[in-house]
Amino acid sequence: MKSKEDIDLQISKLEEKYKNSGQDLSSYLDGLLYQRYLTYWDYIHLDTLLSLQIPRTHFPDEEIFIMYHQITELYFKLILHEQKQLVDDKTQEVDFFIEKANRINSYYRVLISSFSIMINGMEREQFLQYRMALLPASGFQSAQYRMIEIYATSMKNLVHHTERASFSSENEIEELYEHIYWKKGATDKATGEKTLTLKQFEYRYTPRLIRIANQVKDSSIYAKYLQLPEKVKQNESLIKALKELDVNANVNWPLMHMGSAYRYLAKDKKPIDATGGTNWKEYLPPSFQKVVFFPELYSKDELNDWGKQWVDHIFNPEKSTH
Ligand code: HEM
Repeated sequence: MKSKEDIDLQISKLEEKYKNSGQDLSSYLDGLLYQRYLTYWDYIHLDTLLSLQIPRTHFPDEEIFIMYHQITELYFKLILHEQKQLVDDKTQEVDFFIEKANRINSYYRVLISSFSIMINGMEREQFLQYRMALLPASGFQSAQYRMIEIYATSMKNLVHHTERASFSSENEIEELYEHIYWKKGATDKATGEKTLTLKQFEYRYTPRLIRIANQVKDSSIYAKYLQLPEKVKQNESLIKALKELDVNANVNWPLMHMGSAYRYLAKDKKPIDATGGTNWKEYLPPSFQKVVFFPELYSKDELNDWGKQWVDHIFNPEKSTH
């Protein structure tokens, strides 16, 4: 227990604090007197959180599908939380950079290892039925997934790889954004018609994504890295952490995710249509997307072989290393 003198001292500090902001301490003390004690469930808004799993069908496994998406979105939020601190950081201290990148990697590791909940944890027959009630929604419409990309690298590096060389960071964000890889993936090659999934996503999120891209134009994680003094850029722990982040975000997570598409949607030669309407077998493989956040960290060969383990694994299993 604190002594009476200690408490008097605390009260005079409080008086000072409230006086400085033109407030009356006594009214705040009344508030303290009447306030309820805080509980765990109120603090984390548990009732609200647990009320957000609302299936659209009666198949029990749909609830797993909803919850796992929600869990993933919360991890995406944790990743963004660290990314934003890096983007806002003015100190340029390498230890801070490394720590944030390592935290992000620890979140990705959880997401990658837990993806088995999707791949093995639902009955295929149930999935194929309840998914029909979700059309045309798709994880493709995850805005946080797109924000993570925008905070990580320059818009130019997100342009579809077949067009990337014809753009530079000098191009306007709006122009680069029109050629971003995921728009191409959800556009019919022959007709140029966008999927409804893409149209709805663009209508809802384009202004926000463009605003963020402009805001972090010179302060994305890649931009911050490039601005470091040459000697600091060679820091081994930093390079290791950033490479791991790149591979986690652009190879390992996409590969696990694609595993679920194969488990549920691959059928003999002809794939089942995805709810988002992409030609997913051509769209999802990391080696076809070739999204790389920090290209300066790799050799030409490494960039050419980006995500290629998977292609070897599927098409040349005997050559594959895993
Ligand atoms: C059984 C589980 C899953 C299947 C079968 C599946 C399937 C697909 C397919 C086929 C696509 C391509 C777009 C389309 O045409 O719809 C896609 C995209 C996407 N999905 Fe999933 N998905 C699953 C779980 C998840 C989960 C749990 C998340 C977590 C948020 C997620 C996030 C995404 C994202 C971010 C994309 C866009 C990827 C990109 O643009 O490269 N998916 N998904």
